[in-house]
Amino acid sequence: MSRSPRYQLLAAAALCATAFAVQAQDKGPIKVGLMLPATGTYAALGTAIENGFKLYVQEHGGKLGGRSIEYFKVDDESDPSKATENVNKLIKRDNVDVLIGTVHSGVALAMAKAAKDNNTLYINPNAGADAITGPMCAPNIVRSSFTNWQPGYAMGVAAAQKGYKTAMTITWNYAAGAEAVKGFTDGFEKGGGKVVKDLKLPFPNVEFQALLTEIASQKPDVTFAFFAGGGAVKFVKDYAAAGLRKTVPLVGSGFLTDGTLEAQGEAAQGLLTALHYADNLDTPRNNSFRKAYAVAYKMNPDVYAVQGYDAAQILNAGLTAAKGDLAKRDVITAAMRKVVVDSPRGKFTISPAGNPVQDIYLREVKGTENDTIGVAAKALADPARGCNLK
Ligand code: PHB
Repeated sequence: MSRSPRYQLLAAAALCATAFAVQAQDKGPIKVGLMLPATGTYAALGTAIENGFKLYVQEHGGKLGGRSIEYFKVDDESDPSKATENVNKLIKRDNVDVLIGTVHSGVALAMAKAAKDNNTLYINPNAGADAITGPMCAPNIVRSSFTNWQPGYAMGVAAAQKGYKTAMTITWNYAAGAEAVKGFTDGFEKGGGKVVKDLKLPFPNVEFQALLTEIASQKPDVTFAFFAGGGAVKFVKDYAAAGLRKTVPLVGSGFLTDGTLEAQGEAAQGLLTALHYADNLDTPRNNSFRKAYAVAYKMNPDVYAVQGYDAAQILNAGLTAAKGDLAKRDVITAAMRKVVVDSPRGKFTISPAGNPVQDIYLREVKGTENDTIGVAAKALADPARGCNLK
């Protein structure tokens, strides 16, 4: 049956109106779920990540991939026992398009599982749990930070090069500590050193005295530590107060002295650590980032701020490739892997497993800065054991 020209015109107009409505709907905000600690020993780290993320968005007119951003927030308290419930608030209640978080490896493992189960885009701006870009790796999961193994390994290589032969390690007893120690041990023993004892205490305890006494009595050539946030402040002060700085040099993954130096003061001076960022990187990219961050937040950025900033860059790369269309999931996830991130830390790429391939700097504490004194490991990739993505 043939239709009248007037009917055809009306039908075409209706079609146009529907298409326009769908397009307008698509142009609404992207819902970003920030799951970070706002309380507890890692609270300041969560704030820095959020600040960094929002700084990049502000620098791009409040938009990523042409879409405005709406934030949803959950304080995860760095508590793994509440992690699944917390992440489901963002995924199921708030219906977010992308998850950003978190600091604590145990919490992030639950986030990665939920992101996999629900096929939600997930960018991890800190927690280094090796499994997230190992056996749990997935196209919708990318990290803007590191694996716990990476800085630990680089510090182990550097400690062996300094001629230390024996080491003790000390950390909190959870994934991040265990994996940082594994990295250190791999690097140190490859260079001819020997880890003679691993000391642990439960997260987030800060009663270090008995363990410091053990280090003092065993007198290894060097101590390697993984602590961060408020716990790192207390550990570095206690180590110095025990008089150990003079007898057993202390080194660590750079988190030991990042974002903590104002509080650690004299006790941290001269400490050597390894990390993928250093305050004094004298590049236009780092200088402009540091200036913009200081203007926006009235404080200096740290590695956590950089990782938050770069998480927004990675999301922007994905959304831009898809012209802001969330339905183009494969385009987004492919672009989030292909991007060369122009980071304040220096340019880095993302491995097939979804983890940064990056330089790890050797740094020395000078005043309130972690200054680079060399590169401990160039373009270091995590081994990504157990990940099948190519
Ligand atoms: C972690 O739990 O993976 C973690 C926490 C704090 C850091 C680094 C890693 O600074």
